[in-house]
Amino acid sequence: MRLSQYFLPTLKDTPAEAQIASHRLMLRAGMVRQSSAGIYSWLPLGLRVLKKIEMVVREEQNAIGCHEVLMPTIQPADLWRKSGRYDDYGPEMLRFVDRHERDMLYGPTNEEQITEIFAEAVRSYRELPQMLYHIQWKFRDEVRPRFGVMRGREFLMKDAYSFDLDGAGARRSYNKMFVSYLKTYERLGLKAIPMAADTGPIGGDMSHEFLILADTGESEIACHRDFLEMSLINQSIDFDGDLQPIVDRFTGKYAATDEMRNLETEKALGEDLVTARGIEVGHIFNFGTKYSKPMGASVAGPDGQDVAVEMGSYGIGVSRLVGAIIEASHDENGVIWPDSVAPFQAGIINLKSGDGDCDNVCEDIYRKMRNLGVEVLYDDRDARAGAKFADADLIGLPWQIIVGPRGVKNGVVELKNRKSGDRDELSLEAAFSKISG
Ligand SMILES: Nc1ncnc2c1ncn2[C@@H]1O[C@H](COP(=O)(O)OP(=O)(O)O)[C@@H](O)[C@H]1O
Ligand SMILES: [Mg+2]
Repeated sequence: MRLSQYFLPTLKDTPAEAQIASHRLMLRAGMVRQSSAGIYSWLPLGLRVLKKIEMVVREEQNAIGCHEVLMPTIQPADLWRKSGRYDDYGPEMLRFVDRHERDMLYGPTNEEQITEIFAEAVRSYRELPQMLYHIQWKFRDEVRPRFGVMRGREFLMKDAYSFDLDGAGARRSYNKMFVSYLKTYERLGLKAIPMAADTGPIGGDMSHEFLILADTGESEIACHRDFLEMSLINQSIDFDGDLQPIVDRFTGKYAATDEMRNLETEKALGEDLVTARGIEVGHIFNFGTKYSKPMGASVAGPDGQDVAVEMGSYGIGVSRLVGAIIEASHDENGVIWPDSVAPFQAGIINLKSGDGDCDNVCEDIYRKMRNLGVEVLYDDRDARAGAKFADADLIGLPWQIIVGPRGVKNGVVELKNRKSGDRDELSLEAAFSKISG
């Protein structure tokens, strides 16, 4: 991509309405623009990041045999009357009437919709277990939308749903999702800690929120220090095997948010206790037959008797993650993207656009990188070097190839790493091999 032809409306000044780093940086880096309170347009750079996060989430869902569907944003109220939630949901649900006077709503979540689809299609226990997900916009008319895309009214969520014959099966599905979530967040460069969440009237121990630590988090959290070191990366996981040992390892130590905290346990932990603020980036939940019973989602069991299926739902805040990743990884100059979600892998900074030699070298690098399949942003603008450096750091280009008249003469480029700040002079070949890892 040539920056001179790109749509990247960066801002020099800090927008006054933004209270936290990620919101400020997303506006300054030209990633999003507010349309109305809690509702955003995604501009090219922001959309690239959103799509990358979506892709990581999608790959990890597919990897556990969860099948992608796409359900509508608009749902009929009658569907929600069947589960009884139409009256329960309250003012967060956006309700409206279509031209035929039918009550409609903009979906805040999709349990009812998926349960109906399942109930019409599946008749026998032999077709179980089943897991389905979609990545779709939701609307919740939050009283206090704030912090940019972190607490929006319209937001992108991955929500998955599992269907099992019995409690043991539901536990297996839950465990699959639990472990898959740990992997997903690690791939996104995040340390997400699973914390037991309130299961409400259903009870049991099958609800967890996944939180990442950040000073601007909305929740007060406390956990065992060991969580900071726990990892699944480089571990090959058999998702068809018994995942309970992994789940036990990640739930065996103390971790709790707000109302779930236990001050006595915390006192006993002493030095091992970490208290911090956290951002909820996912929430998984087993709710048994709460929807399957009223909505008639049952299958014929092995003995021919009808049984209501055991269900669970599993959410990841995809658009919130854009903000959360920035909260977890930025400095005073801008964003520091984890490689997996960086909008571009590398940038080329032409220090002297218009200078024949510099232009030629840059064009050559640009062509070669594109041929290698590297996503590259070439700053070919007629602008000061300082402004180009500032923008490259602001939008967080992980590798920056800096080309100036002196280097061109000596056959070298400068390669800057955004994360470490290291700058090296080296040959183009050496720079390429560093960038491609
Ligand atoms: N208003 C919102 N803006 C952005 N993301 C949200 C919002 N509400 C929920 N999410 C994301 O969707 C995930 C699943 O939502 P859920 O747990 O149902 O919401 P809540 O915790 O608000 O009840 C959350 O973990 C969060 O990451
Ligand atoms: Mg939640």
